[in-house]
Amino acid sequence: MRVLFAGTELFPHVKVGGLADVMAALPKALRALGADVRLLLPGYPALKRVTAPLEPVMALGNLMGGGEARILRGRCPAGLPLYLLDQPAFFHTDEPYAASGELPLRFGALAWAVAHLGRNGDGQGWRPDLVHAHDWPTGLAPAYLALGGEPRPRTVLTIHNLAYQGLFPADLLEPLALPLDAFQPDGVEFYGRIGFLKAGLVYADGLTTVSPTYAREILGPAGLGLEGVLRQRNGRLRGILNGVDETVWNPATDPHLPRLYGPDHPEARSAGKAELQRELGLQEAPGAFLVAIVSRFAAEKGLDLVLEAQPWFAAHQVQLAVLGQGEPELEARFLAAARLHPGQVAVHLGYDEGLSHRMYGGADALLVPSRQEPCGLTQMYALRYGALPIVRATGGLADTVVDATTEAMAAERATGFTFLEPQTAALQGALTRALALFRDHPAAWAGLQRRGMAQDASWRPAAQAYLAFYEQLLG
Ligand code: ADP
Ligand code: GLC
Repeated sequence: MRVLFAGTELFPHVKVGGLADVMAALPKALRALGADVRLLLPGYPALKRVTAPLEPVMALGNLMGGGEARILRGRCPAGLPLYLLDQPAFFHTDEPYAASGELPLRFGALAWAVAHLGRNGDGQGWRPDLVHAHDWPTGLAPAYLALGGEPRPRTVLTIHNLAYQGLFPADLLEPLALPLDAFQPDGVEFYGRIGFLKAGLVYADGLTTVSPTYAREILGPAGLGLEGVLRQRNGRLRGILNGVDETVWNPATDPHLPRLYGPDHPEARSAGKAELQRELGLQEAPGAFLVAIVSRFAAEKGLDLVLEAQPWFAAHQVQLAVLGQGEPELEARFLAAARLHPGQVAVHLGYDEGLSHRMYGGADALLVPSRQEPCGLTQMYALRYGALPIVRATGGLADTVVDATTEAMAAERATGFTFLEPQTAALQGALTRALALFRDHPAAWAGLQRRGMAQDASWRPAAQAYLAFYEQLLG
């Protein structure tokens, strides 16, 4: 089976969030099952630098007014076969979503190239049976393919996050080469604008999202206006839980960690904790409860709840280590909290892959208070690294963390702590339970750590589920 994977991020070269991790790991897992998966991404400078060889396979002319475009073929350093849309006027930085007026045309060009390669093949004997698009930037690809008629490859669109819909003015219909009669509610139109994600939801043969719980949630208010079309297409929608790339995320081999350790020896993490406290300027107290956050600073991540809970952290002398960047107001408020509580709250603004690994490896707990979380990867990495997740039970967080209730503890199933209401009091309730177990029941705490670390979180089951879905769509 030949599959063309299309998206806008690829770990470790171009990464904004979890999409990059998925785009690197899922094709690898699918290839291990025998599928011939190849990727098509924008020709960002960072990708052109590392892809070899860079062999031109076709010229596409002036796409969407962004100048001469062509498709190059090669392999990324991890070995995945890669096509790049080389169009320097559109893809001149490594920041995929940098705001600009040309954003819709840039991703329109990408989707058009995906559809073109999908329908015609690469001119060198490779043509996909199925095109798998990811998120709003490639949402128009299934539309171009469906509107262009048969014969064409089948299409799948994966929703990684419904909060980003790609909505643009209707006067872009013509520049985007979309037919006027597609501008209607059962086409690309969404409340008077062109919806890139909406288009994908309407025209793709199959839809998936990244956890079973999120697949249910988005049929209601979490659908953010798209719940109607999602309910109509529910028969073709699957929730498939993301996995963990165990070659990247493994505390027994991780080059970013000061000391390696395996699931049988969570106590060996103490060196990493001390190192982390030093690195971040936290008090070097081995007994202090150290809670970490690794997150984009976006409203849906619920970080305002953590800021409101600052008095709780101070009153209980609980250490908080934050790594992230995003909304300026959240950045300013976290910096202010760190200034107010030196040695107890540490905030590192920016993107730092190595530090993120040391946080999962050194913190006692990882806090993910999201209002909405399609899957969430940080809590899965934390589980593997022995940092117990404290999460709001929504989307993929609900599917991956088993709350340490009395029953779950007795049944030896608990892996972390969950809370339901997106409110500070509920968050503090979960933190209080975690702190009590950490301080008063260290043996039970270590038991939860070992369970999380030993769990099988590989991509294999997800890859099998995607393959079964592809096969169903191909008849
Ligand atoms: P989302 O994709 O919504 O941001 P996920 O939990 O799926 O959420 O994925 C986030 C990914 O980005 C994880 O790999 C996490 O380690 C990483 N990450 C987030 N913020 C940072 C940061 N500031 N520095 C390094 N890695 C980060
Ligand atoms: C999105 C979601 C996140 C998910 C990631 C990878 O960025 O916000 O929950 O884990 O995609 O699928």
